[in-house]
Amino acid sequence: MLADRILSVERSPFYSIMDLAAKRGDCIYLHLGEPDFITPKHIVEAAKSALDEGHTHYGPDRGIPELRQLIAEKIEKEYGTRYDWEDEIMVTAGGQAGLHIAVMALANPGDEIIILVPYYPPYLVNAKLADARPVFVELKGEEEFIPDPSDIEKAITSKTKAIIVLTPNNPTGSVYPEETLQRIVQIAKKRDIMVISDEVYETLVYDGIRHKSLISFPDTKEHVVQVNSFSKIYAMTGLRVGYLAASQEKLLQFLKYHHTVNISANVPAQMACVTAMKGPQDCVEEMRGAYQKRRDLIVERLNDIPGVSCFTPKGAFYAFADIRELGIPSLDLVQYLVQEAGVVLTNGSGFGCEGFVRVSYAANPESIEEAMDRMKKAVIRMPAAMKKL
Ligand SMILES: Cc1ncc(COP(=O)(O)O)c(C=O)c1O
Repeated sequence: MLADRILSVERSPFYSIMDLAAKRGDCIYLHLGEPDFITPKHIVEAAKSALDEGHTHYGPDRGIPELRQLIAEKIEKEYGTRYDWEDEIMVTAGGQAGLHIAVMALANPGDEIIILVPYYPPYLVNAKLADARPVFVELKGEEEFIPDPSDIEKAITSKTKAIIVLTPNNPTGSVYPEETLQRIVQIAKKRDIMVISDEVYETLVYDGIRHKSLISFPDTKEHVVQVNSFSKIYAMTGLRVGYLAASQEKLLQFLKYHHTVNISANVPAQMACVTAMKGPQDCVEEMRGAYQKRRDLIVERLNDIPGVSCFTPKGAFYAFADIRELGIPSLDLVQYLVQEAGVVLTNGSGFGCEGFVRVSYAANPESIEEAMDRMKKAVIRMPAAMKKL
């Protein structure tokens, strides 16, 4: 009775790990893709006031005007590009919905979508749901998973519709250099394909680096759709607000899809986003600073585990550790660590990349220390029989 479309995609493999972890009472969870910080109080208060004031009805389908104006102002201030708040910005139910809308509205059945590996799993699911063909471009751990734009160009065919670019990256934590992004934009324009630019981690960059947005290059509006979100920047994943920035022509079409699925994004949550954007930004900088310290801690500790190595990621809140020397499939290692050490990581194979595990450092430093102690001991005593690779 079910559609082939939905049967063609797998349920996230991470659920089985969670089931395993639930059997132990003392797990430390370093698999999370969300901030562990509490949503800043003024943002929460704004959502509460919105409810108290009766903002509990549908909102405008594109998003509440004040929020769209603030988003357009932010884009102009930070990237120097003008987007018309009325016609070129649409507020969505998180970046996840924005991503889905963009893929569904851009790709025809049979079109090819270039996905860089390792990938954020919903990219693959979205391509499949659109009946498009994912075309994978493998990135190399030795190059810290920074793409070579000429590899992307080689993957383009007459059927290519779009490429999905994610910087800062999940799961690798890599931040793409400006030259790489510039070349990607040039290629997209030359070959007339779209870039879906997922920038949900844009504020989480370290070591004095600044995030370079794909929409900050000149004349990109016809070829780039930006997917963005309030989730990570303000630690408000559960409030579900994101947005799309695109040309007027595309945005009008995206709106049909958004309206059909959501009518509008959650109104009190959008009002909380207005407060977040207008209010002090110290909380953003505080969280960023804390993540950077945790990153340093986790990278040092991972590199201290025999058979494990990890480059220093420049963004997001993930370390992508190389476990190839251990000679064991990433899923086996993750299962072993849950059972033997009560440490929950994510297998690289779930991101299309065997030989690596993703370690989230969106956790407090004490938990990170304890998890790394446990992981080191468990890896050292790992039975030789587990080696399969
Ligand atoms: C790369 C990436 N894009 C998009 C999202 C979706 O985020 P949200 O829907 O909370 O904005 C996530 C969430 O983890 C993500 O990691």
